Amino acid sequence: MDPLRGIPLLEDLPDLDGKRVLVRVDFNVPLHIGVRGKATVADDFRITAALPTLRWLQDEGAEVVAASHLGRPPGAPDPRWEMDPVRERLQVLCPGIGLTENLRFDPGEKANDPAFVQRLIRGFDAYVDEAFGAAHRAHASIVGPPQFLPSAAGLRFAKEVEVLGGLLENPPRPFVAVVGGAKVADKLDVLKVLATKVDTLVVGGGMAFTFLAARGQHVGSSLFDEAHLQECRELLGSGVQILLPTDTRALEPGGTFGPPSDGHGPRGSVKVIEGDLPDGWTGLDIGPDTAATFAEVVAGAGTVLWNGPLGAFEDRRFAGGTRIVAEAVAHSPGFTVVGGGDSVSALDELGLADKVDFVSTGGGASLSFIETEGHLPGVDALRQAPNAPRG
Ligand code: 3PG
Ligand code: MG
Repeated sequence: MDPLRGIPLLEDLPDLDGKRVLVRVDFNVPLHIGVRGKATVADDFRITAALPTLRWLQDEGAEVVAASHLGRPPGAPDPRWEMDPVRERLQVLCPGIGLTENLRFDPGEKANDPAFVQRLIRGFDAYVDEAFGAAHRAHASIVGPPQFLPSAAGLRFAKEVEVLGGLLENPPRPFVAVVGGAKVADKLDVLKVLATKVDTLVVGGGMAFTFLAARGQHVGSSLFDEAHLQECRELLGSGVQILLPTDTRALEPGGTFGPPSDGHGPRGSVKVIEGDLPDGWTGLDIGPDTAATFAEVVAGAGTVLWNGPLGAFEDRRFAGGTRIVAEAVAHSPGFTVVGGGDSVSALDELGLADKVDFVSTGGGASLSFIETEGHLPGVDALRQAPNAPRG
C-alpha cells in the first residue's frame, strides 16, 4: 500500500490566496547559550527542513503562522523556553512567517484540551502539519486542528511518511537495521517489529549487553536490564538473523567515562575484550572485529536503517564503533536512512550527514512510526481531515 494513501497533501488544500494558514512545525531545536546568557539556535536542521513548505504556502498567497513546542516546560510560561531564538533564525531563513509562543506554555497542549484546540485554530482557514518529529504525540496542536480545518501534510512530513513507510512495505534487500543506544527497554518494541521486516538486525550500544547476557555471556559491569532479559531471549529465538558484538571495548573497574568537559570524565585503562567480560569491567563500545563485521554487513545491504550510537561516543575513547558504522552507512551503495538525535549528531560531527540518503527529522517519532507500522497520532489525524482523499 502507498504509505501516503488517505493523507491530504498541500495540493488538496482549497485556494489559499489571502487565507490564514496555521502550520504546526517541530522547531524543538538544540539551543546554544552564549556568554551573556543569550540563546541561539545550535542546529537549524528542523527549521531548514520546513522551509519548502512555508515558502510554498507564501507563494500561494497565504498568511502563514507557525507554531511549535520547544523543550519540556511544565505547562506554564518559562523564559528558558521562549521561542525568541528560533524566531530570530526563522526570520533570517524565511522572512514574513509568524511564529507563536511555545505551545507547551499552555497545559492544554499536552492534555489535548478541546478548548485549547479552539483557541489555536481561531481565525485560521487551513492547517498544515509539518512537525513529523512530534507526530507521535497526541497533543492539541497535532491531532486537534485536522478535525476542524482543511488540512495537509507538509512536504517534509509527507517525505518522512513515504520513506519510513517504504521501509515497512517493500525495501530493497537485504534490509539491514542497525540499532544502538543505551537502553534496551526503549527499543524492544521497535526491534520486535523490525525483526519481522529486516533480513538482519544488528544490535550494538549499551542495549546489546542484555542480549549478550540472554545468550549466557558475562557482561561484567556493563548496562544490563534484567527485567527485559526474557524478551531479548525470545527475540533471539524468533528466527531473524541478529548480529551482536563479539568483542567489546571496555573500561577497567573504577574507571570513569564521559565527555572531556565533564569533571568526572575520562579516566582508567581501556581494553578490547573478546567474549565474556571480567567482573567490574564495563563495555562501552563495540570492539574492532565487531565494527568490521557490522560495516561489512552494512556495505552489502540494499537498505540500511540506522538508529542509535554503538557506544558511549561522547567519550572519544568509545567513539570508534559509531564512527566506523557511520562511515559504512555513508558509503553503503544501498538506500540509507538514519533516524534519532544521537546518530544524526554522530553523522554531523563526522561531516557525513549529506552522504546518507535520508536523515529523519524525528528521533522518537521515526522509531514510533516503525513500531506502530505508520499509525502515529499525527499521521492518523490527517487522514481524518474533512478534505482527506477517500477510498
Ligand atoms: C523531539 O524532539 O523528539 C520532538 O520534538 C518531541 O519532543 P518531546 O519528546 O518533548 O515530545
Ligand atoms: Mg547510498
